[in-house]
Amino acid sequence: MKTIQSIQALKSLLDTLRKERKTIGLVPTMGALHPGHLSLVKQSRAENDVTVVSIFVNPTQFNNQQDLQTYPRTLEADCRLLEAAGCDLVFAPSETEMYPEKDIRVFDLGAVAKVMEGKFRPGHFNGVAQVVSKLFYIVEPDRAYFGEKDFQQIAVIRRMVQLLNLPVEIRTCPIIREKDGLALSSRNTRLTAGQRQIAPRIAATLKESVTFAKGKSVKEVIDFVVDTLNRQPGLEVEYYEIVDGSTLQPIEKWEESTEPVGCIAIYCGDVRLIDNIKYKRITT
Ligand code: PAF
Repeated sequence: MKTIQSIQALKSLLDTLRKERKTIGLVPTMGALHPGHLSLVKQSRAENDVTVVSIFVNPTQFNNQQDLQTYPRTLEADCRLLEAAGCDLVFAPSETEMYPEKDIRVFDLGAVAKVMEGKFRPGHFNGVAQVVSKLFYIVEPDRAYFGEKDFQQIAVIRRMVQLLNLPVEIRTCPIIREKDGLALSSRNTRLTAGQRQIAPRIAATLKESVTFAKGKSVKEVIDFVVDTLNRQPGLEVEYYEIVDGSTLQPIEKWEESTEPVGCIAIYCGDVRLIDNIKYKRITT
């Protein structure tokens, strides 16, 4: 496995591989890797000749400086995990390598980017589009891999790819969870022992809500999730929305969507976590 910091060096190596007709899979990450990321690497390895993992804590997607500063950075440990997972190339650029000058591009990401994370983290998705488009231009991957924990991000990236006519196939992998249900996230390392004990209530409540949903309206299910979690000391829901899985627009009636998905952002102490769950199409 090679670790490369320079765009030029990476591009020239990838050009050589492309001339040998090798297909390239890209797994964009911000590091602090966990088995969720490694499942993306595994999927990429199964579908491509070469797997590139980028590790870059992208400042333009953080709307909160405190979050950016406290974001875990564990490059050495990440490289060890990637080596063991069979990754071929790690791209770990510096901030000036990725942003030699301020990126002033503003993307028209449409309705998928206006709700939920888009509403509560202004500028976040534009920052994601900036960095992921740069990575796509640099790596020119055949396929790129994203986890379903960031469910809305996938829709936003698909929209960006369409907008820019980029020749990359977006592939997605299911959420990987701890045994107690907590969705794996780099931010979980910031939870105190006490918060770590409470956090599994999030996934458990989402799961319970699928059973609860039988015969209930969308609003009743939303209220169930919000009230159950907010009753738990140490948890505070920022939003819970049930949206159509493709348009990401909130639904009022189950019949409005063939793939309803519940998306949550919730504070566990000062750590902001997200998770989501798919509902079966329910006819009440
Ligand atoms: O999902 C993430 O970790 C980031 O948003 C991504 C896609 C690597 C862009 O910085």
